[in-house]
Order: sequence, then C-alpha cells, then structure tokens
Amino acid sequence: MSLKLKSGFTFDYDNLYGEGKVTEADLKSYEEDLKKAHEAMKVMRETGFIRAHLSKDGEPEKVLFSQTPYVEEGHINSPSSLKRLQELTDHVKGNVDVVVSMGIGGSYLGNKVLFDVQCGAYWNELTKEERNGFPQVYFSGNNIDPRSTGDLIHHLEDESKILKYHEKRNLKVLLLVISKSGGTLDTMSNFMVVYDALQKYPGIDVEVIAVTDPNMEKQTLLKKLAIEKGWPQFAVPDGVGGRFTVFTEVGLTLAACIGFDIKSFLDGAKDMDKACQNDDIWQNPAMLNAALKFAASEKHGRDIEVMMPYGDYLKSVSEWYIQLLAESLGKQFNKEGKEVCYGRTPLVAVGTTDMHSQTQQHQEGKLNKVVQFVKIEKWANDLVIPNTFPEAKKLADISGVTMSEALEVARQSNADALASNKRYNACFALPELNAYHLGELLYMLAMSVAYEGELADVDAFNQPGVESYKRIMGPKLQALKAAKAAK
Ligand code: PA5
Repeated sequence: MSLKLKSGFTFDYDNLYGEGKVTEADLKSYEEDLKKAHEAMKVMRETGFIRAHLSKDGEPEKVLFSQTPYVEEGHINSPSSLKRLQELTDHVKGNVDVVVSMGIGGSYLGNKVLFDVQCGAYWNELTKEERNGFPQVYFSGNNIDPRSTGDLIHHLEDESKILKYHEKRNLKVLLLVISKSGGTLDTMSNFMVVYDALQKYPGIDVEVIAVTDPNMEKQTLLKKLAIEKGWPQFAVPDGVGGRFTVFTEVGLTLAACIGFDIKSFLDGAKDMDKACQNDDIWQNPAMLNAALKFAASEKHGRDIEVMMPYGDYLKSVSEWYIQLLAESLGKQFNKEGKEVCYGRTPLVAVGTTDMHSQTQQHQEGKLNKVVQFVKIEKWANDLVIPNTFPEAKKLADISGVTMSEALEVARQSNADALASNKRYNACFALPELNAYHLGELLYMLAMSVAYEGELADVDAFNQPGVESYKRIMGPKLQALKAAKAAK
C-alpha cells in the first residue's frame, strides 16, 4: 500500500498499516480528531492562527511556516527577497573563498542538509573551478568545543598561507552568523572566538553577514551589532520556529552560497503543501503519516521513531528530523494545561551503516519502534560493482549489480525482515535526490508534526523545555566569571 504523488514522491506504508499493525479501526477512532486537525491546518495556512500557541514571552504568536513556499511580495519569501539572495550568490562567487555557517539547532541543522545534498563530503577539496566559482563551506557555532573551533581557525590560517604563497593575496572569509534570538551562547561564543582570531590574522580578510530576527523595536544583540558595524542582514522571520527555518533565509542564505536550486526547493515544498491540503487522508501524505505514527504510538506502544535514510549524505536529514520531532512534540502539558508528557522519541540511523549496529535491536528488541526509511530511486552517479576477483564466487556473484541496486536490496531485505517479526516500518521514496524532492520531503515532515500536534493536543510550535537549562546556565556562567575575576 502506498500513496504516490504526481511528482513520484511515494509514501509506502504497507508494513505499518493493516492486520497486526495500525488498523482501520484505529484510524476510524480518530476520525473526528483528524477532521479537526485538518481544519486547524487550513486555519493556520489562512491566518497563521494555531489554538493555544504562545511565544516564548507568553504572547500570542502566528505560525507561518506554511507560507514559506509561496513566493509573493509581502510574504516571507518574495521576488525581492529572492533577488537579494541572487545578489548574495553573485557576491560570494566573485569575492569569497570560504563561508563559515555559524548557528545551532534550527539555525544549523537544515543548512547542513542543504550542504550535504548539494555538495557531498569533498566539496572543500575541489578547486574553485570545480565548485563552479562557489566558496568552500565550514560549519561552526554548533557546539562550544575548543578543539574543533581551534582546528577551524588553524585550518583557515594555513589556507591563507598557501593562498598568499600561490596567489599573493589574502583569504576572503565570510562569517554567516545565524541566530534568531541573536544571543545564543553556543553560536555567539564561537563567533567571537573565530571573528577575533581571523581579524587579527594578517593574511585573512573577514566579512560578516548577520541572519537574525529583523524586529526593529526589540533588537536582538546580533542585530544591534550588525547595525553598529554595518554588516548586511537577512531575516529569521517572526512566526517561523527554528526547526522550520530551512525554508527561510536561514537555509536560503547558505543555499545561495553553494548554488543550491532555491526555486526548485520551494516549488517542491509548495507542491507538497498543495498535496497536504487534500481532505482525503489517503491522498494527503502529512495527514496520513501523522495519523499512522500517532496511532502506532498511542494504540500499539510504538513510540520510538528510527529515521533511517539509505545513503551517507542523508544522515543530516535524519538529524534535522530529530530536532523537528523532539522539539515539536516532546511536551509535558497539553493545550489545556493538563500533564500528558507526550512525545515520540526520535533516533538517528543510516542504512546500510546502522544495519551493522542498530538493526539487531530493531529486529528483536522491545516492540516499541517504527523504522522510517527514506530511499532514493534513481541515483545520479551510480557505480557498477565489477567482477574484480572472478575466482572468489561470493564476490563474483554480486558483480554486474550497481551500488544503488545493492543498497535498495539491502533496504528492502531489512524492511521485509522487520515486517516478518511484527516490527512496524514505512518508507518515503524520492525519485531522485534533488532540491525539488528534498523540498517535498522536508515540508511534508514539517506539516506532519503540525498535524500530530493537533492530534496529541500539544503545541507543536513552542519549546518551553529548552528554557529550563538556560535559566540555570546563565547565572552559573556569571558566577564563574565573578569567581575568576576575584582570583
Ligand atoms: O528550534 C529552535 O528554536 C532552536 O533549536 C533554535 O533554533 C536554537 O536554539 C538556536 O537558536 P537561535 O537561532 O536563537 O540562536
């Protein structure tokens, strides 16, 4: 059983729905809730209103991520905002050797997906011509790690020495600093360390672009700095929480720096949004995915979701999804303030790699998981396994098969084995790994957690839990600083 869109995007739920799995009766019992959830999505699209959603400061706040695929003047993405992104592309192609994308959580995870899908693992080793004039890209600000931050600084200093020797000029580094709140410790401490070191280094020219909340009345720290220093600015728009910002200038500024096809990405998201407007659950991928996963959790105890794409460069999709599911649905209280402690637990896995580490547990451990596969149907650069050692029968037997065919046989075998032992699993299939289908996939997952928030009656758009440690950490750091000053 599967739901296939015109684009070829497919949700295969054969191993998740039917006898011994989520049943028709399960879904029937949610009929009214699903209708209400679907109605709530319509209202969200039209007005930005989500019942009981409040901002971090306890103020009513719109939810606008569903507007992002629609490029119109006055919208979050508009012809003029895309023009500015094109100007950024032109600027980096002519003037920048290295971009360092600095951010954490929603200000990092989507950007890493775009980079991995577009550039792969060896981008920075290519020549500028092979990169079609685009800069190298590094990520920082995603931890407070002295070693990796120091390594990055030293690496850039070394690069600048080599450039000076060969081309007799400075290395041009663009720090793309992304923080909605503009004050996140992890990102801003890294930024200060890297900015300070690179600015002092004679062979490096540094420029900064700030991506932050554009609000002029309540300016973020980063915005104040940007105004004071004259750094160009892009927006993390109001009404789009960090985990949904890959479709805004958070993701799109990085996209502009690597030649990622922004238009196709937003078109994929838009076509998916249209599919998700379908009232018929069997034609609406987000509603169907949410309903099946919710029922699997609530009625069958399958409250862990293993996100397991097949392919190395899709691991970051899994990591992006972890944040989306965890922050959106892991909630102690429902919309009426009653304690519910809802939330399915997400796990990262990658096929085939984790078949050699996690699959034993998926296959025989607790019956508490849904394994969600992602597969690519047609790989851009496939490789045939050659008959290198004809004398070794076991190796000769796999020759002539392409690596993508072998990958899919491995995934299918895993799915069959899991299904044969009452293990729920499902698969999203993308016809190809490109910007369009990536836009479809990420948008569908975002819309699916919005549906599930309604089904579980929790606010999928706040994250009060992440404030708790911050309230402890701030004073602790102040106390540390005071104690050091007193010495
Ligand atoms: O989803 C979220 O809101 C968080 O993960 C944030 O993206 C993360 O904490 C980074 O915040 P900021 O962009 O304000 O630096």
